[in-house]
Amino acid sequence: MRILIAYAGRNGSTRTCVERLVGALGHLDVTVKDLNTEQVQAAEYDLCVVGGCVRFGRLQPSLRRFFKTQEQALLERPLVLFFCCGLTHESEYYQEVLFPKCLREHAFENVYFGGSLRTDGLPWMDKLLVKALRSSIAESDIEDGEYTPSMPGILPENVDRVAASIRRETAQRK
Ligand SMILES: Cc1cc2nc3c(=O)[nH]c(=O)nc-3n(C[C@H](O)[C@H](O)[C@H](O)COP(=O)(O)O)c2cc1C
Repeated sequence: MRILIAYAGRNGSTRTCVERLVGALGHLDVTVKDLNTEQVQAAEYDLCVVGGCVRFGRLQPSLRRFFKTQEQALLERPLVLFFCCGLTHESEYYQEVLFPKCLREHAFENVYFGGSLRTDGLPWMDKLLVKALRSSIAESDIEDGEYTPSMPGILPENVDRVAASIRRETAQRK
């Protein structure tokens, strides 16, 4: 069974999640495509895993284009959706709004892989934005009365859970 992992990230954390997922899928036949630089035909694969990072409340343009052009092919095969974002407390909301409704309803997983609000190595504009996101999180933590730190990180347990789910799906379809 040929598995496609098509992703669109920006500063490395989405890529890190994809690398962990590839590792967790072990011996399966997996092809990874970066939608920011590569053309992909979903119809060439038997199962598709598609996702990316949130910037300004939306997924990357290359990923949104991919959903438009490949929608039919994605609906015709098993699908996993994933995303990374910095605002953990918004992740349930993003789960509902980021992906086209028909794909969301079709997918057998729609999962938050965590995210990063580290500023090291970022372009200066991104650094400014990430600092603003970090302060908004810190403020809301304190406003709650008690300080509960909620800086995000990558959630390896979610990546591994999805890998297990994909392995089950491929085993069923053999
Ligand atoms: C310019 C910029 C805008 C962002 N906008 C959002 C946002 O609207 N909501 C959110 O939850 N996280 C936001 N983030 C945080 C990213 O989703 C998070 O850092 C993610 O891990 C980035 O993935 P990447 O490293 O693959 O680019 C933003 C980050 C940057 C740099």
